[in-house]
Amino acid sequence: MDEKIVVKTKHGELTLEQLAEVQPGMARLMKEVGERYHILYYAAKGGNWKLAQHELNQVVNLLKVGATLRPKYSHDMTAFIKEHMDPVGEAIKARDWRLFDKAYRKGIDGSNVLHEKYAYGYIRYVLPKNPPEFYDLSPHE
Ligand code: HEM
Repeated sequence: MDEKIVVKTKHGELTLEQLAEVQPGMARLMKEVGERYHILYYAAKGGNWKLAQHELNQVVNLLKVGATLRPKYSHDMTAFIKEHMDPVGEAIKARDWRLFDKAYRKGIDGSNVLHEKYAYGYIRYVLPKNPPEFYDLSPHE
């Protein structure tokens, strides 16, 4: 009964197990979460709220992928999105910088709590002092 399901690709045959193994783990996903969380901040600060919304959407999508691929984080991930990312989204919709800044920083605190919970207390996100140079951060409504 341990027959493996094989998928044909143009490069050869792979088992579903092999495909599952090569999906990104938390370290790979989180690297992108961190980069996008950086862009998110400066997009909102610059007034490019549409870019901010885009980056937030990507952060949330990445967190959901993490919850799917690593079910042990699923509960905390869902709670984190509701408690910390939704308020960031509300501030973006309201185009309210002060509200955004507060919610954004609370998100960092919330991520630190979870990193600690999962024995990664040495991973603490720090908002870079400079905006990313590869995006136009001015308003584009
Ligand atoms: C916006 C919120 C978050 C930010 C900015 C963030 C940022 C990061 C960063 C930069 C890393 C290090 C990646 C690396 O260089 O290897 C990391 C790792 C990690 N984060 Fe987050 N994180 C966030 C939310 C969360 C949440 C909600 C959870 C769990 C529910 C979580 C769990 C983890 C775990 C388990 C690792 C270690 C991954 C590994 O090495 O296997 N993070 N995070």
